[in-house]
Formats: sequence, C-alpha cells, structure tokens
Amino acid sequence: MEDQINSLLNSQINIEEFNNNNNSNNNNEEEDKPIVKIYDSDKQNLMDRINSGEFMKIQAPMVRFSRLPFRMLVKKWGCDITYTPMIMAAEFNRSEAARDSDFTINKLDEPLIVQFGVNNAEELVSAAEKVKDYCQGIDINCGCPQRWVMKEGFGANLLLHPERIYDMVKQINNRVPIPISIKIRVQSDLKDTIELAKRAERIGVSWITVHGRTSAMKSSHPVDYDAIKLVKDNVTLPVFANGDVFTLSQSNEIREKTGVNGVMSARGLLTNPALFQGYDKTPIECIKDFINIYSEYGGLHPVIFHRHLMYMLYEYHNKNEKSEFNKLSTISGIMDYINDKFLF
Ligand SMILES: Cc1cc2nc3c(=O)[nH]c(=O)nc-3n(C[C@H](O)[C@H](O)[C@H](O)COP(=O)(O)O)c2cc1C
Repeated sequence: MEDQINSLLNSQINIEEFNNNNNSNNNNEEEDKPIVKIYDSDKQNLMDRINSGEFMKIQAPMVRFSRLPFRMLVKKWGCDITYTPMIMAAEFNRSEAARDSDFTINKLDEPLIVQFGVNNAEELVSAAEKVKDYCQGIDINCGCPQRWVMKEGFGANLLLHPERIYDMVKQINNRVPIPISIKIRVQSDLKDTIELAKRAERIGVSWITVHGRTSAMKSSHPVDYDAIKLVKDNVTLPVFANGDVFTLSQSNEIREKTGVNGVMSARGLLTNPALFQGYDKTPIECIKDFINIYSEYGGLHPVIFHRHLMYMLYEYHNKNEKSEFNKLSTISGIMDYINDKFLF
C-alpha cells in the first residue's frame, strides 16, 4: 500500500486540468553560549509540555497538504502539534500575496510550528518577526532533497553547510523570542549527524526532528531508527522521530525503540488523519469533519481537497472505485459521490 500511496503522491497535480467551477555569517569562532529564553505563555506552555516528558504526536510539514483545514482536522483527531508546509522565507518577506496565501491560521490550530525554507539568518529573522505572534515555534527545513531546493541552498543542502544552520539559530535566539527547531535527515556518516545535533543543542535549538533516511533514500527505503536513537542518546534536548509512522502501534514501538520525545507522521496522516487515536483507517466521521471544515473555512485548492479525500478513502475503494473517484473533477461531483456512497 505504501508504494501505491507514494506513486499517487509522486504523480503530477495539474491544477489547470481541474474543472474548477466552484547571508550567512561564519560564526565558527564565536563561543556557543548557553541560552535561557523566556517566552510568552502559549509558547512557554508548549515548551513545558515537551520538556515535561509528554509524548508528542506531530503532523509533519507537507507542501500543498498541511494547510489550515487539514491541520484543524488532525488536531481534532489526536495530533498535539501541527506544522505548516515549508514556506519560502524570501518570498514570504517580499510579497504580501505570498503571506496571505501561505499563512492562514486560527485558534483551533495551536500549537502551530511554521516551517521555513531558508538559507540565511536575515531572511529567517525577518520572516520570524512576521509570524512570531501567531504561532508557537518556527522550524528550519534541513531535510528537503528536491533538486531545486538543494540548488537554492535550502533544505538538505544545509546539512552540507551546518554553519549556516548555526548562524540562523543564533540570530533567532538573539533577536526573536520564539522557540526554534530544525528538521534534519540522517547523514550517511552518522558522526556528522551527531555532531550537528550536539552543536545545535549548545546553541539553543529547542528540539530536533530526525527523519531516519538520508537525502539519497527514497520514501520506500526502511527508516533507520537506530540512527535516530543514536541522536537521542547523544543530546539532552527533545528529539522527535520521523519516518513510516502509519499506526499508533508503530508510534509506540518507535517510542520504545528510540526513547524519543515524540513522533512525526506525514504520509500516515494523509491516508488516516485519525491514526494517533488508534484507528486503522480513516473513520467516516473524520471524513465528514474534513468536509465540514473545508466547507466552513475553505483554504484549499479544490485539487488538493480532492487529493486529500483520495488518500483518506484509499482503504475504502477497490481499483475501479479509485479510478471512478479520481476522475471526478468538480466539488459538487465529489460531494455527491461521497453522499451517495458513504450515506451522509
Ligand atoms: C506531500 C509531501 C509534502 C512534503 N513537504 C514537506 C515540507 O514542506 N517540509 C518538510 O520538511 N518535509 C516535507 N515532506 C517530508 C515529510 O515531512 C516527512 O519528512 C517524510 O514524508 C517522511 O515521513 P513519512 O514517512 O511519515 O511520510 C513532505 C512529504 C510529503 C509526502
């Protein structure tokens, strides 16, 4: 099933086709100083929860998908923390239109972490200033392996230039009162990953999320939980494990195996937003909730709304039904199909 979901995810989303009727400073020599940060109450509350040992269930950042309606849904169905999709900081700083389109929030979506695609401290500080009053933390994407992202010096490219990460974290800690986390992938030489985690801890990263695959590995490649455990064993700051969390029992196994402070799921939550409540497939009630949230708040392109439902209904459909549902091209057609089939 995971392979099929991967191929669905990798297939192009052609929005046109849809009938839509409806600078980095090198601070290498600078000493790392211990960081004591005081936050406002909602940010402090999140840090207190994480540091108290509460096991956190987290929805991963997902470009196009982890937008407000989906975040509200997964919060209702068991996620403790949600992440925005990666937001390109430079664009976000420059364009009001980008800010309006990329950043929609509400009170039901707390605690929220805003993830940025960024490679220098000035852009990050500027973007963080803009969102700091509307979220509980910011995160630097240090794991995206896509070619264009690597070329721009964002995502996993930062793992090759860790000084850039350290500089961004230091500048945030000096200038913006907000928790700052990093989401990394394991590297082929785990010594580099451990070194990065230790240094990140010294300069005041609030937590680290570790995706247990290297940048070269496909999402079908098994996750290296031993590597995640190694990171956890080498630092005292909170570590979240990411990769292949499709069920609550997998989440519990990862917790036992690695000792991490929480788990983060991407594809698992796409196919079953209720997984952290122990459901094996998306409950119909959850699908109803998604439709109601979408109807009330909008905030998703119809193509993405349709995609979400494809994933959530995956386990309910045989091959022909999948094909029938996937061909629908209007919101009214989608709603009629679901009404007829799932007896609203
Ligand atoms: C559709 C999709 C979009 C993604 N977008 C992002 C993103 O914006 N930022 C990020 O750090 N990772 C992104 N990822 C990677 C996931 O956050 C996660 O690290 C990866 O899918 C492994 O988790 P999983 O095995 O639970 O899917 C994305 C993954 C998917 C499937």
